Amino acid sequence: MATTFGPPAHMAAFTDVDERWGPLAKLAGQWAGDKGRDFSFSYGEKKDTENLYREEITFDPFGPVDNGKQSLFGLDYRMKAWRIGADDFFHMEVGYWLWEPATGTLHRCFMVPRSTTIVAEGKAAAGDTGFKLSAKQGSPTNGILSNSYLYDGAAKSTGYELEVDLSGGTYAYKEDLVLAMASHGGAEMHHTDENTLQKVS
Ligand code: HEM
Repeated sequence: MATTFGPPAHMAAFTDVDERWGPLAKLAGQWAGDKGRDFSFSYGEKKDTENLYREEITFDPFGPVDNGKQSLFGLDYRMKAWRIGADDFFHMEVGYWLWEPATGTLHRCFMVPRSTTIVAEGKAAAGDTGFKLSAKQGSPTNGILSNSYLYDGAAKSTGYELEVDLSGGTYAYKEDLVLAMASHGGAEMHHTDENTLQKVS
């Protein structure tokens, strides 16, 4: 059976970006970068470790999405990451970036396949080439949800911060997910990731 992929019928189809996408306009397209640095707890090595990775990410524009009076301009994004030298990917993300021109609010609403969902928010001006977003455990708006195994102690996400720099034509990001981990006696550790990607199309 033939399938199609794209936004549901009540949204405009994938499209070209214009000024209505504000600071997200520069992100539209495909990017790749092999300077990724991840810091996380390795169960194999039983210690916090650094992992070098390469990454591919696609941002497909859509919109506007209207929630009553609220109008959002979005990018549908899909990301995969591979350890340097490996053929199989080890991390994925799917989600949406959304820009609300009326309030200058950015939303990044995304999932990682450990059963964790984050809605991060931040403020920006339409012409900004850098912005910061955050989410925190327990917030009903910019919050973090995880499956019960993770939340109940194995790796409870307590806060998330993301910084993006689009100046200079690259997509550079740094993110910091604070995890209270059973492997650390319940103490918090900073699971951090950063990369700088080049536009490939
Ligand atoms: C904000 C986005 C992310 C979230 C919510 C997230 C979530 C998590 C969680 C909850 C764990 C702990 C799992 C456990 O204790 O069993 C973890 C571990 C890990 N994450 Fe992430 N992560 C994110 C981004 C990334 C990125 C971008 C990468 C690499 C490209 C990455 C690579 C890893 C690795 C290598 C581990 C350790 C796995 C192991 O050795 O057991 N994560 N992540």
